[in-house]
Amino acid sequence: MRVFVAGAGGAIGSRLVPQLINRGHEVIGTSRSPVNAERVRALGAEPMALDLLDAGAVRTAVLEAEPDAIVHQATALANVRFSRNMDRTFAQTNRLRTEGTDALLAASREAGVRRFVAQSFASYRYAREGGPVKTEDDPLDPNPLPSTRQSQDAMRYLDETVTRAGGIALRYGGFYGAAGDGLVEPVRKRQFPIVGDGGGLSSFIHLDDAAAATVLALEHGEAGIYNVVDDEPAPVREWLPVLADALGAKPPRRVPRWLARLVAGEAAVMIGTESRGASNAKAKRELGWELRYPSWRQGFMAAYAQATLTERRTAHSAARTTHSPT
Ligand SMILES: NC(=O)c1ccc[n+]([C@@H]2O[C@H](COP(=O)([O-])OP(=O)(O)OC[C@H]3O[C@@H](n4cnc5c(N)ncnc54)[C@H](OP(=O)(O)O)[C@@H]3O)[C@@H](O)[C@H]2O)c1
Repeated sequence: MRVFVAGAGGAIGSRLVPQLINRGHEVIGTSRSPVNAERVRALGAEPMALDLLDAGAVRTAVLEAEPDAIVHQATALANVRFSRNMDRTFAQTNRLRTEGTDALLAASREAGVRRFVAQSFASYRYAREGGPVKTEDDPLDPNPLPSTRQSQDAMRYLDETVTRAGGIALRYGGFYGAAGDGLVEPVRKRQFPIVGDGGGLSSFIHLDDAAAATVLALEHGEAGIYNVVDDEPAPVREWLPVLADALGAKPPRRVPRWLARLVAGEAAVMIGTESRGASNAKAKRELGWELRYPSWRQGFMAAYAQATLTERRTAHSAARTTHSPT
């Protein structure tokens, strides 16, 4: 297929493009800067300049590219500053999930594009009641916290609009597997604590596994929603110490709920204590997806431990050089 990937040089896009090419697809990858265009070209795709928030430009780009399929992986989460107000943090991503999705869907209808897959999110969205692990059929949180409402609405909008148009929304778990992952610095600096009993569940996914599921969904998924998460949704109190260890960081701090609410806001308390995980049974069953990293337990080590070891060795040998007698 000729596949148009919006956000081809990003965290997930850069894993997806080589896998698509390996499977024999031809890829047109969007970017907004010459540097990123070169990155997209180096991945093996044909670069195309595009701002997804310019609907006219999206129409022109899609009509010009004449793709068989579109994959929407554009988000704006790199280098964001997390604040007490999640909606402020996610404002630009929310626009990409609403306006960007609308523009791509309109263009894809006009160009006769047959397949459409878009990035959605699984963690911290399902209703915070009942069992710990949720399927795609379980209800989303009917009462999102006020500071997360716009972001929750944007993801719901994407899920509904895409599937109504006959496309696929992939609810990914928290991405990891790259040096610049969002959790790395806060965990290294011990700024990500275990809140209360640390019983809130997270679902993770290694970027390579996320890309593999995306290829399968694109090739033969049915219209609808798929959770793309690993086999082991886990409470923060379990995964956070393992991540800290893989990063060579000190163990996470523990803070009571009231203190976390005061310092980091209500959403941080919800994520740490109440959120539910997601089940990947449908994606495995219907897509024939097999995970290389079925659990974050192996995945965190594979992603970070070698880099941590190399950094320690470098620091150690620098210290020896400094202290060696001359
Ligand atoms: N599920 C998750 O847990 C999840 C999801 C997303 C991100 N993250 C985390 O967030 C960090 C990376 O964030 P990210 O994936 O948003 O950043 P990223 O790696 O820079 O990827 C974003 C992609 O979207 C494109 N993009 C952004 N704004 C656009 C616009 N207006 N029009 C067209 N394309 C646009 C970017 O391309 P250009 O800049 O070249 O245009 C880029 O290819 C990582 O730490 C990652 O782990 C996590």
